[in-house]
Amino acid sequence: MIEKINQLKADISNLTATDLAQVEALRIKYLSKKGEVSLLFNDFRNVPADQKRAIGQALNELKNLATDKINSLKESLESVDTIDSSLDLTRTPAMMPLGSRHPLSIVRNDIISIFSRLGFTVAEGPEIEDDWHVFSSLNFAADHPARDMQDTFFIQRNPDVLLRTHTSSVQSRVMEHTQPPIRIICPGRVYRNEAISARAHCFFHQVEALYVDKNVSFADLKQTLLYFAREMFGPETKIRLRPSYFPFTEPSAEMDISCNLCGGKGCSFCKHTGWVEILGCGMVDPNVLDACGIDSKVYSGFALGMGVERITNLKYQVKDLRMFSENDRRFLEEFQSAR
Ligand code: DAH
Repeated sequence: MIEKINQLKADISNLTATDLAQVEALRIKYLSKKGEVSLLFNDFRNVPADQKRAIGQALNELKNLATDKINSLKESLESVDTIDSSLDLTRTPAMMPLGSRHPLSIVRNDIISIFSRLGFTVAEGPEIEDDWHVFSSLNFAADHPARDMQDTFFIQRNPDVLLRTHTSSVQSRVMEHTQPPIRIICPGRVYRNEAISARAHCFFHQVEALYVDKNVSFADLKQTLLYFAREMFGPETKIRLRPSYFPFTEPSAEMDISCNLCGGKGCSFCKHTGWVEILGCGMVDPNVLDACGIDSKVYSGFALGMGVERITNLKYQVKDLRMFSENDRRFLEEFQSAR
């Protein structure tokens, strides 16, 4: 028996396996109930009493050897299965490329958050619109030049299906199904039939704001504008309003802010005037309120609209409008830290 044990010890020490299935076959061969090692244990009861001690010890050694050998074969194959030995685990890991928000989204979100602190909530409308919501309800006379084919993209031959040229269309959509108080901010994409250049694009983004309630005055508009300008461009920012014309507001104005590059001293960016234009605004024309089902004798309101690209250019000095839609990663990555 002792020879048999020694023979098995030698065999087991030299065992090799190339995959886990082979290891399992070896385990069955030696260690299962009917395996060779177990069979020797069964024979143990026939061993004469004076040899039991020595053979018992040898049998235990054999069993430990077989168990250790099979476990170590198994472990070495399992680790080969999961870890590629050609990997250098001490190497510094490569940076995970992080995405970042588009600059226009960053600025749009800033505008929304400033107005939401004043109680405005976001309202959205369709990009494919009809004449009523983009023009007629907003007091555009039938022959107003903005309806001209050169400005507006019409869809199909139907002049009543068009791409909105401004987000003011959302004003009339909200007013026709909501009674005041209304305090909304409407971000969105708009389209104009313009040749693409550094300064013009066939689509861009606007944010419109509308406030309608009893006793809304021009002073409310001015204070809102000042708050917005200071939150957006810094507490030192000054504003000025210049009289202007929009069909849907009366009176109308355009707002300039003190140039945020030179602080109002005059530079090439502000064409040495110290001021840059950022938005249009005014008191909602009573015709617009009435057209949308709001009694202009009871309610008044103000509205304002701005181009997101314009505000972004001012904040980040982007010189060419086309960069916003080219998706050049070198440009986009510059805004990684901006939020
Ligand atoms: N809709 C105007 C445009 O696209 C911007 C605008 C001006 C919106 C004055 C307004 C406003 O609400 O009061 O140029």
